[in-house]
Amino acid sequence: MSAIRVLVTNQKGGVGKSTIAANLAAYLAIQNNTQVHLIDFDKQSSSSQWVTKAPDIGLKVFPANLSYEDRGSLVLAEAKRYLYKFSTDCEISISDLTWTYAIPSEFMLEFDFLLIPSATSKFEMASSEIFILKYIENYLSQIKSMGQKILAVPSRVDQSFQPEQAFLNILNIEHCSLTPPIYLVPTIDNLVYEDFLCVSSSADVAKNFSIFGEHIAKLITEKMIAKKNGSPTHHAIKRSSNFSVLDKYRIERENEGGNNASPMSGWIPNFLLKK
Ligand SMILES: Nc1ncnc2c1ncn2[C@@H]1O[C@H](COP(=O)(O)OP(=O)(O)OP(=O)(O)O)[C@@H](O)[C@H]1O
Ligand SMILES: [Mg+2]
Repeated sequence: MSAIRVLVTNQKGGVGKSTIAANLAAYLAIQNNTQVHLIDFDKQSSSSQWVTKAPDIGLKVFPANLSYEDRGSLVLAEAKRYLYKFSTDCEISISDLTWTYAIPSEFMLEFDFLLIPSATSKFEMASSEIFILKYIENYLSQIKSMGQKILAVPSRVDQSFQPEQAFLNILNIEHCSLTPPIYLVPTIDNLVYEDFLCVSSSADVAKNFSIFGEHIAKLITEKMIAKKNGSPTHHAIKRSSNFSVLDKYRIERENEGGNNASPMSGWIPNFLLKK
């Protein structure tokens, strides 16, 4: 059976992608006793460094340095080559990648799960929602037919975070959901590399990250079972040619003054809505 592929990405920097990628890989390897590969597409190698400096748990790390001077189809081919090569001989691969449009966004179709870490200020959420909507708009029928799951990850959030007020503009869309939040850890610099967050010496941090990991592990297990049973994924659907989710999103935001994060019910077409 082919590995379950998870991509942790956002075009925003510093949102916790590498922290989440390394520690999710570790959670799955430790708690689920699964063979996990971490594919590090980032030149800074933050997630690789965490894995190599923390105690050895048998997690394998693979650097995947893309030559961004190649654009379009060449960089896509290179990214796919790395992904396929490093997603063999394992059950799950986790890729850490700061998104750039130098890579054609169809690369995201190569994954079973997209995890989009994001801060939850209105500005950051809007930017992450647009990132997600733009992708969904372009690849809706493929996303549906492969049953891809797109998960917004509230990252570095305050303890007062209220999930019912976050990412409201994408949560009604089929295939999109919200994960448990990753709370802001003021003392994270003391924990980085010490060990993985799910087994951190700080009980609160360990608990928080384990709740997040468990949520993802459950979704991955469901996907593994579905793949094993060969259960049919959703049927591809055709979208009407003049329909643009993103344009409607922008118009609604402009009408609302551009800074209102309230849900814009009514603009999402029925076929996109959760049943
Ligand atoms: N939950 C958290 N609480 C506090 N600080 C965090 C948390 N997660 C990550 N950080 C810190 O935020 C900074 C950015 O985190 P990280 O490198 O994981 O983000 P990134 O999205 O991968 O960044 P880049 O875009 O540079 O690759 C780091 O200093 C990291 O230690
Ligand atoms: Mg990073």
